Amino acid sequence: MRSINDETITDVALEQMSGTSDPRFKLIMEAAVRHLHAFAREVNLTPEEWLEGIRFFTAVGQECTSYRQEFVLLSDVLGLSALVGLLNDKSGTGFHSDSSLLGPFYRENSPHFELGESIATKTHGREIALYGHVLDSNGRGIPQASIQIWQTDEEGDYDMQKAEAAEMDLRGTFDTDSEGRYYLRSVLPAGYSIPMDGPVGNLIRAQKRHGLRPSHIHYLLGAPGYRELVTALYIDGDPHIGSDTVFGVTDSLVVKPTEQDPASPFPNLPGIRYDFTLSFAGKDQASGRVGADPSQITRVAQRAGRAT
Ligand code: BEZ
Ligand code: FE
Repeated sequence: MRSINDETITDVALEQMSGTSDPRFKLIMEAAVRHLHAFAREVNLTPEEWLEGIRFFTAVGQECTSYRQEFVLLSDVLGLSALVGLLNDKSGTGFHSDSSLLGPFYRENSPHFELGESIATKTHGREIALYGHVLDSNGRGIPQASIQIWQTDEEGDYDMQKAEAAEMDLRGTFDTDSEGRYYLRSVLPAGYSIPMDGPVGNLIRAQKRHGLRPSHIHYLLGAPGYRELVTALYIDGDPHIGSDTVFGVTDSLVVKPTEQDPASPFPNLPGIRYDFTLSFAGKDQASGRVGADPSQITRVAQRAGRAT
């Protein structure tokens, strides 16, 4: 029997877990325990602070529903989601566009539209055209690539945040044409505050942060044989472009809508032209999503809960 004190406890705990059969799970849990113990030692965590942390995580879990993912939001505001995305970016094969956050407002099975149609089916606003190509790392257009798009309305609200949360608007799925082109219409989105009425909002206020995201449009692109790209385009000139609460903005993703573009499929509309590049999929690299549809997370979590 080994004597347990504040120095030996880490090794004792690691030793007890050493029989874990899945090597990746073992690595992750060992590192988690080592870093958690180091954190407690570094700040000399008190029992009351420990309990406050437990209360906080409990509240975060209690806030989660099929339409709201407070844990993803927490990961976002701590910079963890952006970091995991950036690490995943480095694993791509060949050049690809920069990624950005999936965020908590992604939904699966958004309505399918034909090229040229508008995703603003219930909302009015300043109409814009979104167009460009989906390319491979060699600059060739990818035919029939799938593009999912979602965004806020002019008030900065997603459909999921409205009273009729089950009804979809300002989101849709398109397929590129035979040359990898896409073109569609929408309305200019507004920047918005992340949900501030839960525990993550309390954290943001305690840290004296503004809790805002600059105006943006989300894209999730994929095609067989290519690595999925989760990204977003940020509208130049938004006052919060340099201080995004969730660290999603990078220079290459900032766009300035053109007032008129003779080469646009909609030459009389303001437009955002952007060519996205997908890298080839390596082994086990199909998904680049740091997140998921909240309803899927809730469902899987419930199944996991029942299994234990
Ligand atoms: C979003 O862009 O939808 C988002 C990302 C992180 C936190 C909140 C919202
Ligand atoms: Fe967003």
